[in-house]
Amino acid sequence: MTDIKELLLSRIRDVADYPEPGVMFKDITPLLADPAAFTALTDAFAEIAERTGATKVVGLEARGFILGAPVAVRAGLGFIPVRKAGKLPGATLSQAYDLEYGSAEIEVHAEDLSAEDRILIVDDVLATGGTAEASIQLIHRAGAEIAGVAVLMELAFLNGRPRLEAALDGAPLEALLTV
Ligand code: PRP
Ligand code: MG
Repeated sequence: MTDIKELLLSRIRDVADYPEPGVMFKDITPLLADPAAFTALTDAFAEIAERTGATKVVGLEARGFILGAPVAVRAGLGFIPVRKAGKLPGATLSQAYDLEYGSAEIEVHAEDLSAEDRILIVDDVLATGGTAEASIQLIHRAGAEIAGVAVLMELAFLNGRPRLEAALDGAPLEALLTV
């Protein structure tokens, strides 16, 4: 494992049985509190943004906001929030998606995306891939292209990657850590 991967992994805390029994929660707050780790993560994501020719960074509420906003600043790109439904005041595009129990909906301001844009989607965790897949659909419906998806951590046993790769149409899915 490379030094940066070891550093990042060492700053992610496993919390058993949270938020419900049987779930191992990946807590990134120790990483956020460590400036060396947070900077290394931001630099790694910014390098992906540059390599993939991204023109804007989309962050997925809520943890994708924390990770994505500094990447946009570091890469010299604009930041676009994809929010949970009902939080954006302007004209929005909405995308519903299924959860294990029930469904969820995410939204983006339509005016933030154009046909000239190539979007790097940033989030902390890829689990089932439902959230990232819905955001890809949202961005496609807005007419923009996907430069790629970048996550800190992929939970491979939940099989999000094949689901996303089908939606990504050749654009890269970059996971800095796979657990
Ligand atoms: C978590 C995580 C990812 C998503 C991954 O978000 O931050 O965004 O789930 O799951 P999936 O691949 O199965 O869609 P969540 O909405 O639970 O919490 P947050 O608002 O703290 O980011
Ligand atoms: Mg999230």
